[in-house]
Amino acid sequence: MGASPAAVAALKGRRRVACLTAYDATMASLVDRAGIDVILVGDSAGMVVMGQEGTLGVGMAEMALFVSAVAAARPRALLVADMPAGSYDSARDAASNAARLASLGAQAVKVEGGAEVAAQVRAIASAGVGVMGHIGYQPQSGGPRRRGLTRADADSLVASARALEGAGAFAVVLEMLSSEAAGAVTRAVRIPTIGIGSGPSCDGQVLVLHDMLGMYERMRPSFARRYRDLASEITAAASEYRADVESGAFPARGHSFSMGAQ
Ligand code: KIV
Repeated sequence: MGASPAAVAALKGRRRVACLTAYDATMASLVDRAGIDVILVGDSAGMVVMGQEGTLGVGMAEMALFVSAVAAARPRALLVADMPAGSYDSARDAASNAARLASLGAQAVKVEGGAEVAAQVRAIASAGVGVMGHIGYQPQSGGPRRRGLTRADADSLVASARALEGAGAFAVVLEMLSSEAAGAVTRAVRIPTIGIGSGPSCDGQVLVLHDMLGMYERMRPSFARRYRDLASEITAAASEYRADVESGAFPARGHSFSMGAQ
């Protein structure tokens, strides 16, 4: 069992929170070994795992599979699962679908929206599952990619974050807010803000694993630092392997066994 939502919330003002996505047990255990605070099983899986254009192809069945796989790694990090689009249209659906993801190993779930999902946040929290909010650019519903470009919009984002906090969210993702708006939201709430493309004043940061590892080539978000170029590494390794198979250099002696071996 990993960290609790309360432990992550308590990091606000003490140190920044590091969050990465993962969708399978192998990657989750590698990320966990690095001391990442929060592993988000994001519906970005729709793009980086399932090869789709957006997040809408991820339903409860797909999310259940990804959450079970990540939970099998028994991460020390807090495991947060995205609630798929359509799985939290009502407070009742929100609570029962969150409970299902929790039964598979998620310690918290994430929902997109502000005051309009406050009832759902309240219902999930009352069911004993941690809730992370997600405001700004909301991939499930679309809309303008950049938010908080005016004072009025920054004020409305502050109001959304306060509504989520009031409903019981323990943290909130800020996606694609201007640095000023992200700073205003961060100062306005007592829960940690986890930024993506929202500048340095957030209480923590989240990146999609495939972006920061340089594995996803269909889109290269301007805000995502590439820490490695694994796309080239993987293709180079596969090419070497192909050449070795063709030439007979693989398998070598140590890769096979003889009759009578134990
Ligand atoms: O689905 C996801 O990976 C997310 C992050 C980008 C915050 O929601």
